[in-house]
Amino acid sequence: MASVKKLFLQILWCFSLISLSSQTRSHYSFVVREAQYTRLCSTKNILTVNGNFPGPTIKVHRGETIFVDVYNKGNYNITLHWHGVKQPRNPWTDGPAYITQCPIQPGKKFRQKLVFSFEEGTIWWHAHNNWIRATVYGAIYIYPTKNTPLPFPKPDAEIPIIFGEWWLNDVNEVFRQSMETGAAPNISDALTINGQPGDLFPCSMPETFKLNVEQGKTYHLRVVNSAMNLILFFSVSQHNLTVVGADGMYTKPLTRDFICISPGQTMDVLLHANQEPNHYYLAARAYSTGVGVAFDNTTTTARVEYSGNYTPPSSPSLPSLPDFNDTQAAFGFITSLRSSPTRCPVPVPINITTQIVTTISVNTLPCPNGRTCLGPNGTIFAASMNNISFQIPSIDILKAYYYHINGVFKTGFPRFPPFLFNFTADSLPLTLNIPKQGTKVSVLNYGATVEIVFQGTNIVGGIDHPIHLHGFSFYVVGYGLGNFNRSRDPMNFNLVDPPYVNTVIVPINGWAAIRFVANNPGVWFMHCHLERHQSWGMDTVFIVKNGKYSNQTLPPPPPDMPPC
Ligand code: C2O
Ligand code: CU
Repeated sequence: MASVKKLFLQILWCFSLISLSSQTRSHYSFVVREAQYTRLCSTKNILTVNGNFPGPTIKVHRGETIFVDVYNKGNYNITLHWHGVKQPRNPWTDGPAYITQCPIQPGKKFRQKLVFSFEEGTIWWHAHNNWIRATVYGAIYIYPTKNTPLPFPKPDAEIPIIFGEWWLNDVNEVFRQSMETGAAPNISDALTINGQPGDLFPCSMPETFKLNVEQGKTYHLRVVNSAMNLILFFSVSQHNLTVVGADGMYTKPLTRDFICISPGQTMDVLLHANQEPNHYYLAARAYSTGVGVAFDNTTTTARVEYSGNYTPPSSPSLPSLPDFNDTQAAFGFITSLRSSPTRCPVPVPINITTQIVTTISVNTLPCPNGRTCLGPNGTIFAASMNNISFQIPSIDILKAYYYHINGVFKTGFPRFPPFLFNFTADSLPLTLNIPKQGTKVSVLNYGATVEIVFQGTNIVGGIDHPIHLHGFSFYVVGYGLGNFNRSRDPMNFNLVDPPYVNTVIVPINGWAAIRFVANNPGVWFMHCHLERHQSWGMDTVFIVKNGKYSNQTLPPPPPDMPPC
C-alpha cells in the first residue's frame, strides 16, 4: 500500500515538474515600485518590478503574443523594453524613452504588447530610460512551440544566471552626477549573480546564489548579462560549459571552459554535472580593455553544490578566468559562435542594397563657459556614431514620424564616416575628439538588405563596444582588428553559418560587420549597450518605411500611449 502511495506521489511530482517548467501566461502585471534591499552590509531603496530583484521571469512559447500591464508606482519616469523581442510591426510598445514612446509618469499605466515571432531560448527585459535599468530587469524564457522538441537533449532543470552591477549609492544619483560633471560615472561596488554579490563580499555569505546539482544531470543555464558597463568572463570551476543558444536563437553547440558575454547579450548554456560530488564556484569578472578606464575589478560568485555524502571543503575552488584585458581570449570565444542555419528564419543576405559604415567613438566636448567639467582635461565625455553624438529629443521619434511632426529629428545619418583617417592609430590629433551633436536618423526602404560595418576608433581611447539593434536580429558576418579594409575583408565574410544575434561586440580598435533585411516597419534604436556610452550619445535610429502590402505597414498606436 505504502509503495503504491509513494509511486502515486512520485508521478504527481514529475507531473508538477513538467507543467512547472513550461508554464506560460499571456498576461503579466508589472508594478514598478521601490523596495528595500540590503547588499554589502548596507540597505537602500531600489526601483523594482513587483518588489523583486531581479524582476519576474516572463515565460512564453515561440510565436505567442502577450500583454504586460506596466504600472508606475515609483517616483521616477520609467519605460520598459523587451530586449531581443523583434516586435514585428509593433514598435509602439518597444520601450526606449523618446525613441518609440514618452516615459510612463509616476501614477500612470501603459499596456505593452509583446509580439514574439522566431525567438527561442533566452532573452530579457529591462528599463530603458536614464540608468533605471540598473535594478529593473529580468529574464524572458521562450520555449519551443508545443510538441516541438528542443534541438538538444532535454535538460533536467533550468536555472537563471543573471549578472548585474550594484552601487552602494543610489544609481540615479551616480547617473545625475556624471551628467552634471561630465566625468565618467562612478564604477559599481560589486557585480551580482541573480542579485547577489557572492561569498567574496562582506555580508553576502548566507545569501549567495546556490545551484544544487546531482551528479550525472544536465542543467540549462539561462544566462543574461544585465550589467550596466561591463563585458564579463565567467566560468564554473573544473566544469566545461556548452553554449547552445545566443540572443534567443539556437547555435551550434560550443563547449569551452569560460564564456565571454557583453551587456545586452543572453546565452543558453548547458552545465553537465559530471565532476566529483563537491562544491564549486561559478565566478564572473570584467573583461575591460580601455587604457586608463576605471572599472569594477571585483569577482562575483555563485555556488554549485553536488548532492551526496561527502565533506565539502571550507571554501570551494575558484575557476581561473582570463585576464581582464585578454582580447585574444574574448575574441577566440566570440568568433567561435555559429548559428545552425536550419533554425534561422531568414537566409544570410547576399545582395546588399544599403551599405553603411559607421565609426563608433568615445569623444569629449569642450566645457561650457562658467561650468567646471571633470571629464578628461576639464572636458565633458561624449560618444558618437559617424561623428554625431546622438541627442535624445523631447517628443518620441516614432510619434513624430507617424504624425509628421517637424523639428524632432533629421534624416540623413551619414552612410560613411565624414572624415577618413587611420581610425585605430596609436595617437590621433586632438581635433578629432569633438563630435557634432544632433538627432539624425537613417531611413531604410522596406525590404532593403542592409550591411553595417562598425569601425571602432582610438579617439580619446579605444575599448570594446557591444552594439545592440532593436527590432531585428542580424547576422555577424565578420570581425577584425584594426581598420576595416573594403577590398580585402569582405572576401573572408562568413555567409554560411554566422551567428544570428541582436548584440555584437565590436573589438577594441577593430570592426564588426552585420547584415539584416529591413522587413520590420517602424522606428528602431541602435546603441552601445555599455550604459555610459549610450548616455554619452553612441546611439542612432533607423526608420524602416512601410512596404506595399497592408501586412507590411505600421498599424496605428495603442490608445494608451504615455503622453510627453
Ligand atoms: Cu537592451 Cu536599447 O536595449
Ligand atoms: Cu560603447
